[in-house]
Amino acid sequence: MKSIVILISGRGSNMEAIVQAAIPGVRIAAVVSNRPDAAGLAFAAGHGIACAVVDHKAYADRAAFDAALAETIDGHRPDLVVLAGFMRVLTDDFVRHYAGRLINIHPSLLPAFPGLHTHRRALETGVRVHGATVHFVTPTLDCGPIVVQAAVPVLAGDDEATLAARVLAQEHRIYPQAVRWFAEDRLRLGDDGRVRVRDERQAGAAWTVPALEW
Ligand code: GAR
Repeated sequence: MKSIVILISGRGSNMEAIVQAAIPGVRIAAVVSNRPDAAGLAFAAGHGIACAVVDHKAYADRAAFDAALAETIDGHRPDLVVLAGFMRVLTDDFVRHYAGRLINIHPSLLPAFPGLHTHRRALETGVRVHGATVHFVTPTLDCGPIVVQAAVPVLAGDDEATLAARVLAQEHRIYPQAVRWFAEDRLRLGDDGRVRVRDERQAGAAWTVPALEW
């Protein structure tokens, strides 16, 4: 059984998707928010999941906040820490502490559009393809070895809301899938920086870089 802690800052729909997926072998030890008013906390509490708030406003600086956050997380001894709309920049020390067991979802096909307002920027740029990325977290913001990416078309007439909704539907599919791979010990980070997944459909259980999902 793998224990995971999910970090949120707001709505928590990706956290919800992971909870609803009821992944065999995964126990959600806690949901932690940096905002006391995060809407996702009510869903988690309603599902009997331990909830905690580490309010970043109560700390003098990033290092103090991250230390308190790590203490709360480590109290649950997680195998994996899942950033699900957790909108804080994390210190290098924090990221290093969780090296190889910290994943994030970002609403773009990284390395395109790191940071905020990804859908608006995709529309402004005029790209025809947009999407979402699950990746292991490294100290650079919205960067790190890609676990899985899903693409969506950008359609004529899209606005930020319609594009965001199309991407979010994919997020809700690929994030539980990535957690499932981790829980099944099917994820491996190679020396070349590529994440490979053990593909059980192939004879000999080959390790392959997951193809782009559509
Ligand atoms: C999601 O779209 C997620 O990809 C994004 O915030 C949203 C949170 O929604 N995360 C980032 O932008 C991280 N850089 P949710 O709270 O409903 O899961």
